[in-house]
Amino acid sequence: MAEPRLAGKVALITGAASGIGAASARLFAAEGAKLILTDVNEAGAKALAAEIGGGALGFEHDVTSEAAWDMVMAETSVAFGRLDVLVNNAGIGRATPILETSLAQWREVISVNLDAVFLGCRAGIAAMKEKGGSIVNLSSILGLVGSPLTAAYAASKGGVKLMTKTLALEVAQNGWKIRINSVHPGYIDTPMVAGAISRAPDAAQRKAYLISQHPLGRLGRAEEIAAGILYLASDASSFMTGSELVIDGGYTAR
Ligand SMILES: NC(=O)c1ccc[n+]([C@@H]2O[C@H](COP(=O)([O-])OP(=O)(O)OC[C@H]3O[C@@H](n4cnc5c(N)ncnc54)[C@H](O)[C@@H]3O)[C@@H](O)[C@H]2O)c1
Repeated sequence: MAEPRLAGKVALITGAASGIGAASARLFAAEGAKLILTDVNEAGAKALAAEIGGGALGFEHDVTSEAAWDMVMAETSVAFGRLDVLVNNAGIGRATPILETSLAQWREVISVNLDAVFLGCRAGIAAMKEKGGSIVNLSSILGLVGSPLTAAYAASKGGVKLMTKTLALEVAQNGWKIRINSVHPGYIDTPMVAGAISRAPDAAQRKAYLISQHPLGRLGRAEEIAAGILYLASDASSFMTGSELVIDGGYTAR
């Protein structure tokens, strides 16, 4: 039997209570990782950690809080004494017309989707610079191409894409063996997208439209993104850094 792909590795996944984060947690556990699962939804993170077992830990963690990052990194150090993989997955989706978008709404999206990835990368690099590791940042197809109604979301995800490249170069220049890559999903059938569809004036039409934008003719599944995150987290991608892994059913191929 093949060696589990994350055997002996300690991995921290943010936003792990739902969707892509939860699917990644389950896959990482099956591949031998020791897990720290965090989410602003404390009950969800703890429930998933308990379900997974094997010493997995669940913590309340608002990724926009510097103090919360300090707490989570300290807990990780106490529990496992190391960190090998960080997945900056927590995020929020918002779609509003530009003339109805308040500065507070803009800042909320930038704070969770971009500021928090900066905080996570800074904490992860500090923790991994001696022994090396892998950081995976969740961007989006909307970090690659535009789409109406998503100014803040697209700005945040485009920011994640270029912050990822810049930090990948900086850690390499410093001789730290940390790889940093971004993942760019198309529309994936998670609570984030289900919620957006249900809020549309005509939900069935909105879902059909989103499906029609993917040449493969369907929305993606969280497990299909988790498979890409696993690849970037594992040593299978040992020559990848500063790269964009697009998993989008062909959305951006046109
Ligand atoms: N679903 C998609 O179509 C899609 C497409 C491209 C990119 N993404 C990105 O993938 C990531 C995961 O998305 P998902 O679809 O699984 O979403 P989801 O809504 O199912 O899960 C997101 C999780 O993040 C948590 N979260 C939100 N704000 C937080 C905060 N401040 N601190 C900590 N946790 C917080 C939520 O509680 C939730 O558990 C996000 O970064 C999202 O932008 C998703």
